[in-house]
Parts: sequence; structure tokens; C-alpha cells
Amino acid sequence: MSTMLTAQSGGGEGRAEFYSRLRLRGLAPLWEVLSSLVTPVPRTPAQAVKWSFSAIRPLLMEAGDLITAAEAERRVLILENPALPGESRITSTLYAGLQLILPGEIAPAHRHTQNALRFIMDGEGAFTALDGERTYMHKYDLILTPGGRWHDHGNESDGPMIWLDGLDIPLVRVLDASFAEHRDDRGACPTTRPPGDATWRWGRNLRPSRHADSTPGNPLFSYPFADWRTTLQTLRASEDPHPHDAYLMEFANPLDGGPVLTTISAFARLTPAGFATRPMRSAVGSPLTAAGVLGVYGTTTVCTGRPNTSRGSTPGNAASSPWRRDQGALLGHCPCALPRVLRPHESWRRGFGKSYAECCAGRDALARELTPSTA
Ligand SMILES: [Fe+2]
Repeated sequence: MSTMLTAQSGGGEGRAEFYSRLRLRGLAPLWEVLSSLVTPVPRTPAQAVKWSFSAIRPLLMEAGDLITAAEAERRVLILENPALPGESRITSTLYAGLQLILPGEIAPAHRHTQNALRFIMDGEGAFTALDGERTYMHKYDLILTPGGRWHDHGNESDGPMIWLDGLDIPLVRVLDASFAEHRDDRGACPTTRPPGDATWRWGRNLRPSRHADSTPGNPLFSYPFADWRTTLQTLRASEDPHPHDAYLMEFANPLDGGPVLTTISAFARLTPAGFATRPMRSAVGSPLTAAGVLGVYGTTTVCTGRPNTSRGSTPGNAASSPWRRDQGALLGHCPCALPRVLRPHESWRRGFGKSYAECCAGRDALARELTPSTA
């Protein structure tokens, strides 16, 4: 096999002439490219990059003066990997951007095959609605909008709201599986359930006994910082940090214990001040968002898209980062691409093809069946 992986370039005019005749027939010699297709170790064009939130925030606010949310539809500054210019990718398989929504603004309801998560960076009290249920967002909450689900955002607070969007856009693009749809009125979804409904059904180590598996994706879409911070602090109080991970927890889908989204997994990490994790090698592309626990002096987003040897829980996060020096503890949120599960076509088959009214009608029927007292 190893000899097959060696490119057989060259070969003189006879071989070149043969190749040109192949091209005319839509053919190509595998032996010329095999070594780049089947590599002994992963290769990626993405680079490890660090963005400073404190540097981006003023630019985002400037964008807020220059363009309305209605004009932009999504007022987002893309975190684009410098090694992948013009491709709207933070790693080979993930998109990330920082979105600003100002007081009084809404982001109209829509749905798409791409899975999305958002990590709240700044502000309090704006909402994300998923299939007509609002969750009010607070700093460092993890919010999901699985592929195929209707979602919209609104800011009823008196301050700006900024969050990190993470989507599997590049992965879906590779599969030519992008579908998107907007409501005809370009407005928000009507409210069909009270805020917190999904959390009470799915986020308390319980699940509805008659759950009908008709909605694509994770039924739980809010993972509040207040909850997972306590988990990590409890872990820290009871055991030593792992040499490679420090204290690392994976957010779980309550349906099956798997990743929160079919193509993306998300993690929360606590790295004690002064603790350095050992270098490790991974093929996972990981946008990391670091935030302080004991008060935030600055936040930093770090991307390590290259399978490499890296030191620390936030690779590339230099010691010059002010929060690292100032914080007593750090929490990181790490959405990581997982290649083992990928079903955007499944999301489309199950979720698309129905109108919003049909989706909500089914949901209302399920709600009545599960909670007869509210019917
Ligand atoms: Fe969206």
C-alpha cells in the first residue's frame, strides 16, 4: 500500500500525451493524486487563529450604525480563517460569526438544513424562539437551533446582544444539501409554548413517556451557563484536573446521550488558573470561546483548525491574553465538529416539505396529548 501512495509524476511526453487524452474523456489517473487523497495523517488547510472579542466588539457596534438588522437579515461579522479566504469558514467544516442584535430588533423566522448553535458573548434578555418557544438568553448560555427547525430572534432588552454563531455550513455545502425557507410575512413565529417548556420536558433528567419522534434534532435547545458552571465547579472541588482536558464536560442530547447536534458537539471546559494541560494531538476542528467565571475582563475566541500539537486548553491562546492573567478560573466553550454523525438529508426529509402551520399543528397536538391540563 505504501508504494501505491507514492505519486508517479513525470514520465515524459508519452505519459503527458496519454493524460491529455484522458482529460478529453473526463478521466484522470489516480496514481498521480492518490497520495494527496489518502494521507497517512490528516491534512487541513486551516490554521490556528486567535480573535480578541474586545477588538471585534467595537467593529460590530460600528456595523450596527451602518446597517439595520432588517437590511442585513443577519448582522454578523464572520470569523474567517485567514488560510481559507473568501470561504466563510473558521475550520474546514465549521462556520462561525459574531452576531449583533440591537434593542427592538428582530431576526425573522426561518429554517434551514444547517445545524446551528450560539454561545452568548454579551448582553442579557434577548430571546431565541425555536418552533414558537422562546428561551431568554444570558451571558455564556448555549442555545441550539437544530437543522430543519423554525427559529427567530428578538431583543426586547434595552442593550445590545452579541453571540457567537456556529454552524455546519461548509459541511452541508460539500454535500450539496442546503435548503432554507422563510415565513411569508418575514416576521417572527407565533408563540406556541411558554418559555422553559422544553427545559422542563427534557432538561431535568426526565422525558415525556409518550414522546413522538416527529421533530428533527435535539428537543432541548437551551443549556444555561448557571447550570453547567455549577457542574464544572463541583467537578473541580472533588477531583484533580485531567492532564489533557482539565475539567471537560460534553453537552448531551437527552434523547440518546449523544452530541447536541447531529454534526456538531459542544463542550464546556474549566481550566484552573495556573494549570497548563499537556500537549495532545487531535483531528477535531474546534472554535473555542473562553470566558471568565469570576467576572469577565475580556473574552477571546481561539480557533485551532489544524490537527497539531498544542498546549493548553485553549491552543494558541497566548499568555499575553489579559483574561488569562486576571482570571481566577476560566470556562471555555468548545463546539467541535464530529465526523461520526452526519444526517442533514435526514433533517430535510423529516422537517422540510411541511408548511410552518403543519409543523405547529403537529406540535400543538402533541402538547395537548402530553399536558391535558393545558389543552
Ligand atoms: Fe438560522
